[in-house]
Amino acid sequence: MELTALDNIKIVTAKESKITSVDFDNLSFGNVFTDHMLVCDYDNGVWGDPEIKPYEPFTMDPSSRVFHYGQAIFEGMKAYKDENNDVWLYRPDQNHERFNKSAVRLAMPEIPEEIFIDGLKKLIEIEQKWVKKGKGNSLYIRPFMIATGHGVVASPSNQYRFCIILSPASAYYSGDVKVVIADHYSRAANGGIGAAKAAGNYSAQFYPTKLANQEGFQQIIWTDDATHTKLEEAGTMNVFFRINDTLYTAPTSERILDGVTRKSIIDIAERDGIDVDVRPVLVSEIVEAAEKGTLKEIFGAGTAAVISPISGFSYKDTYYELPKLQNSFASEIKEKLTNIQYKLAEDTFGWTVKI
Ligand code: COI
Repeated sequence: MELTALDNIKIVTAKESKITSVDFDNLSFGNVFTDHMLVCDYDNGVWGDPEIKPYEPFTMDPSSRVFHYGQAIFEGMKAYKDENNDVWLYRPDQNHERFNKSAVRLAMPEIPEEIFIDGLKKLIEIEQKWVKKGKGNSLYIRPFMIATGHGVVASPSNQYRFCIILSPASAYYSGDVKVVIADHYSRAANGGIGAAKAAGNYSAQFYPTKLANQEGFQQIIWTDDATHTKLEEAGTMNVFFRINDTLYTAPTSERILDGVTRKSIIDIAERDGIDVDVRPVLVSEIVEAAEKGTLKEIFGAGTAAVISPISGFSYKDTYYELPKLQNSFASEIKEKLTNIQYKLAEDTFGWTVKI
């Protein structure tokens, strides 16, 4: 493996590895973490030296701003192992860029590339045995930043902690994904933090999603807060709609996350001659297409979810079942995307980065 250029990093290795106690055939998403984590603290305008150390709990002041005002952001990324045992990251520059955009929006400090990307590479060099070979296996990477400054005054903190934790992963959704189209609750509003990967964007969805779960649905497709007429994203993933042979997805905006999987799908589809129309998608046209039988597919796209077909949706108490296709765009594009990620196809886009 090539060594990274990060030379001011402190490394303390774990006395023993937990890996032998992990059942890699029965992972549930995000529950098991590797032996080490990367931690880097920021104090009054300066990032300190990053440290890789055994995964362990933090000790924090109960008045830390993150507990009171939710000043917290994160990213979701994955590492993949190829047939030669090389480990690859997928478009890490995009996650770094988006992390810094989220940081600016939440009045947090931006993080330099040497800490975010080189630090991550170093951490994965140490944890490479946790990346299992084979399609569907990956190492989910969760970089995050929290406000650690103490005091409950409602203003940005002067202290922050950046941390990266790693979790071996398989599928995020197992089984059918049915969704509800939102007609009351909202995820985001213009001028708000919807485009940031802010912790609060996710916790705000928990209650309406719990109500949807009680009705047998896994996710909500959010609509614009002002009129509830435009389809936006599903909260844990962006969404695509196929009417006849054209794919539609909403443009990114102040309310929608600029998903890395989303933009990869658009590029792959366009390269391979699938028509993609990035424009506001109306609830009414999706309902009408479902009634006419021209709505062929809906699928979600995200790092954790990869490409997850949606089997049906509910809107204002009517449930619309989608056709079960033999050759779906979702499976065709997923195959092409994952072939690039697992180095089973040539990466003509230059998206993969070797550790
Ligand atoms: C990801 O796909 O990486 C996300 O951040 C979604 C998360 C809520 C699991």
